[in-house]
Amino acid sequence: SILIVDFGSQVTQLIARRIRETGVYCEIHPFQNAAAAVAAMQPKGIVLSGSPASTLDENAPTVAPEILAANVPILGICYGQQALCVALGGKVEGGHHREFGRAEVKVQKLSALYEGIWDLGTEHQVWMSHGDRVVAIPEGFEVIGTSPGAPFAMIANEERRIYGVQFHPEVVHTPDGARLYANFVYNICGIAATWTMAAYREKMVEKIREQVGSGRVICALSGGVDSSVAAVLIHEAIGEQLTCIFVDHGLMRLNEADEVVSMFREQYNIPLVHVDAADRFIGALEGESDPEVKRKTIGRLFIETFEEEAEKLGGAQFLAQGTLYPDVIESVSFTGGPSVTIKSHHNVGGLPERMNMKLVEPLRELFKDEVRALGRELGLPEKFVGRHPFPGPGLAIRCPGGVTREKLDILRKADAIYLDEIRKAGLYDTIWQAFAVLLPVQTVGVMGDGRTYEFVCALRAVTSVDGMTADFYPYDMAFLGKTATRIINEVRGINRVVYDVTSKPPGTIEWE
Ligand code: XMP
Repeated sequence: SILIVDFGSQVTQLIARRIRETGVYCEIHPFQNAAAAVAAMQPKGIVLSGSPASTLDENAPTVAPEILAANVPILGICYGQQALCVALGGKVEGGHHREFGRAEVKVQKLSALYEGIWDLGTEHQVWMSHGDRVVAIPEGFEVIGTSPGAPFAMIANEERRIYGVQFHPEVVHTPDGARLYANFVYNICGIAATWTMAAYREKMVEKIREQVGSGRVICALSGGVDSSVAAVLIHEAIGEQLTCIFVDHGLMRLNEADEVVSMFREQYNIPLVHVDAADRFIGALEGESDPEVKRKTIGRLFIETFEEEAEKLGGAQFLAQGTLYPDVIESVSFTGGPSVTIKSHHNVGGLPERMNMKLVEPLRELFKDEVRALGRELGLPEKFVGRHPFPGPGLAIRCPGGVTREKLDILRKADAIYLDEIRKAGLYDTIWQAFAVLLPVQTVGVMGDGRTYEFVCALRAVTSVDGMTADFYPYDMAFLGKTATRIINEVRGINRVVYDVTSKPPGTIEWE
């Protein structure tokens, strides 16, 4: 495996994604825990991430001696390269030449790092983001590549198999970056590609059996990809010792609840309790328009309902959850101070302690794209596995203001038409998330010869990598016009459609 030491770069997770894509397992650990991680993982290679810090700062993060003592290949990226240099006796200075964005590096010397990828003397596009730069390299190192702003853009000690690059090979703006990582893990670290979802499935089935023994597991199924994949995997491991509880809050999209129930019961034969709690949820939301109160109400009712059902089943020792690797990674943050709560996310966080259950989290090591691959491996339908993310509080946060059954019905119809048009236009997989929002505003229109006074529907579509930042999707006007016409013609209660052209930040993806 590969250990990624996190110095707090925005793109550390991308390093892990690139390495996992080569079929090699890796883990991210904060630099403060690097020594423990080296001991626990016994990695065959180490990557040092970038950082917003400067090696020139007092208290700058440093390369733990255990990293160098591990005697395995090391690749330092940006700050990682600079910190390596400092640790080994080189020198870093504040940049006179700051480089941000695209740059060209020139190969000055052949190196194992780009064997078979780059030739001597050639130039290649890379992505830079640095103020400081290396000005003197440690003994035993040589310059293998330069860029206009960084005379030591790429350095190597081939004998010790230590490499440093000033640019970021993990971002898409470094077109050959993925191949450089592949070269590092296969040729320099000598690791074979054995990290596949087929192997993961086998390993996890064993692990789940070992953890659970003859105990009982309950799973809060949300209808989303993560909890579904977790449930199917756990069922494969322990069969009828698993029961799924699907708290149907009545806030799902058109036909969604039925599809989930039939997939689990019919395709997989998994014991499933379907709790129709729509009255309870919608009743509590009806007069409430404060977004945070709505979210908290849904969270509280979910936990109450789930607990009641679990009690009816006679309880369980384990709770299954679809926790993913990004939730587990303890990233280094240099922002200082606690961050502000933008929205209270809905999850089953408080349940295990309250109900005194241990957690079974078979997806803890996986990124979202790996969960999708595992889902395919387990035979989940493509339409389900490739689905856009859907928030826990469901359509309630897409109905600003009070939620009523009538409004939910209108929204469901509009949303289904919108997604249908997106699929027909072949855009579903290009767009990261798309949905309709029913605004609590009525406007005047004219249909036939009559006046109408109905709701406004807003359409949202974004591209994103992880939902943390997003751009609105640039539809052509013909698509929007056609979709708007269909919604207004086919959905009673809507007489106006608008398109949301806000990116995140400053907007969020959902409206509440
Ligand atoms: P925002 O609106 O914060 O959304 O930009 C980012 C992503 O998170 C989803 N989202 C949620 N997912 N529980 C979830 O599981 C929630 O409470 C929740 N709120 C927002 C949202 O759909 C988008 O993909």
